[in-house]
Amino acid sequence: MAIVAASFLASNFLRLEEECKMVNESEAEWFHLDVMDGRFVPNISFGIPVIEHIRKATNKVCDVHLMIVEPEKFVEDFKKAGADNISVHIEACPNLHRNIQQIKELGMKAGVAINPHTPVSMLSEVLHEVDIVLVMSVNPGFGAQKFIPHTLEKIKLLRRMIDEKGLNVLIEIDGGVNLDNAASIVAAGADVLVAGNTVFSSNDAQGTIKVLKEVCKVSGI
Ligand code: DX5
Ligand code: ZN
Repeated sequence: MAIVAASFLASNFLRLEEECKMVNESEAEWFHLDVMDGRFVPNISFGIPVIEHIRKATNKVCDVHLMIVEPEKFVEDFKKAGADNISVHIEACPNLHRNIQQIKELGMKAGVAINPHTPVSMLSEVLHEVDIVLVMSVNPGFGAQKFIPHTLEKIKLLRRMIDEKGLNVLIEIDGGVNLDNAASIVAAGADVLVAGNTVFSSNDAQGTIKVLKEVCKVSGI
């Protein structure tokens, strides 16, 4: 069944400890942590010290999404801060193969993130090296954007590529995931649903996570 990753970009930073507790006690399996540098994306979010604190507040998987240039400079620091998974953007990494090796050598799961305009075929020569492909279903940089419908075609294509090669790579979908589109995203072949505003803006965040998990159960293949 698909994994739900709560995206803390949409959390209330003044109440971070309570937000961690809420997700800890929910059915969401992963904490999704968005790092932005104001260069790769037109926004700045949070970084290493915040992730260190979050790490202390959870035993769940810390899934770090680096929307930064030159991620190789910081990957080791993110490992020390407690990251379990690190995804880097193909568009930010001219030496992507080296970035993937670095993340794996440090004992973490390696993910490659692709922007909406990047074809999944760009992954053909690294797919067998990665643990996760993070498909952006909005342009990275901001929460609460609208899901780009064409993403569903990319998920189906990627699912075929992974299955044809017999690989064990997770497809993670990030941006605009909500209770209305989750079923079609899972049916297309996604393994991980990232949800920010859908969860944190809800009056009943744990209940919303529960519904997302139910949807995954019904739509999963
Ligand atoms: C956007 C981030 C997402 C964001 C998703 O650049 O990578 O993880 O938090 O937020 P929602 O679910 O609100 O679209
Ligand atoms: Zn993200």
